[in-house]
Amino acid sequence: MSWRHPRLIAHRGGGALAPENTLAGLRIAASLGYRGVEFDVMLSADGTPVLIHDETLERTTDGRGRVADASDAELARLDAGSWHSAQFAGEPLPSFGDAAELCLALGLWANVEIKPSAGREAETGRKVALEARELWAGAPPPLLSSFSLAALEAALEAAPELPRGLLFEAPPPDWQQAFRRLACYSLHCSRHCLTPQLFDEARAAGIPLLVYTVNDPEDAGLLLRQGVAAIFTDRIDLLMPA
Ligand code: G3P
Ligand code: MG
Repeated sequence: MSWRHPRLIAHRGGGALAPENTLAGLRIAASLGYRGVEFDVMLSADGTPVLIHDETLERTTDGRGRVADASDAELARLDAGSWHSAQFAGEPLPSFGDAAELCLALGLWANVEIKPSAGREAETGRKVALEARELWAGAPPPLLSSFSLAALEAALEAAPELPRGLLFEAPPPDWQQAFRRLACYSLHCSRHCLTPQLFDEARAAGIPLLVYTVNDPEDAGLLLRQGVAAIFTDRIDLLMPA
């Protein structure tokens, strides 16, 4: 299968140049010529998909507690930028809908990582898939990925037409079973866990392999020349799209 998506993908929105999972990050990625972004999506207490990586608010916002316990109104008041730098003070925590609209406006292809909080795997997979279907209606769809097989399964049931990426840190030896069962499009794994065997298995099966997080330009070049379909990077200042 040929890879028709960007080969360089800005990790968590705008990589290291902006607070992760924010609209500011998406804008910076686009301004540097990036055509692809990855971001993480979790449900609020109200069941709204929002962009955030951790299950708790402390690291990347001025809020406290679990994302799954926070209402949309509470999340809307948070500052998701100051932790990064003063330049981004007041940057909001975006909804999935806001991020999708901006991606479409900027022409950014998106890898939506479904990041369920514990116990909400199927609910999150279903909700994100259904919203993605509506948000990208009539446009090339985003790629939905997840570490959670239950979330991917729910996404498959809810919106089978949306492409899915099977995401592991280190894929287990029988990864192709889950890949087929979930009718996935791509395999995603950590750079630290990419072995020659895994690379050969994916290539033999014609499966696009996406690797995170690659911040060294030489390493990125090597992987892409070797046939990795795409890499996720935090260093969007160092790795320049062709
Ligand atoms: O989707 C690739 C990568 O984002 C997975 O790791 O923890 O940065 O979401 P994490
Ligand atoms: Mg992610």
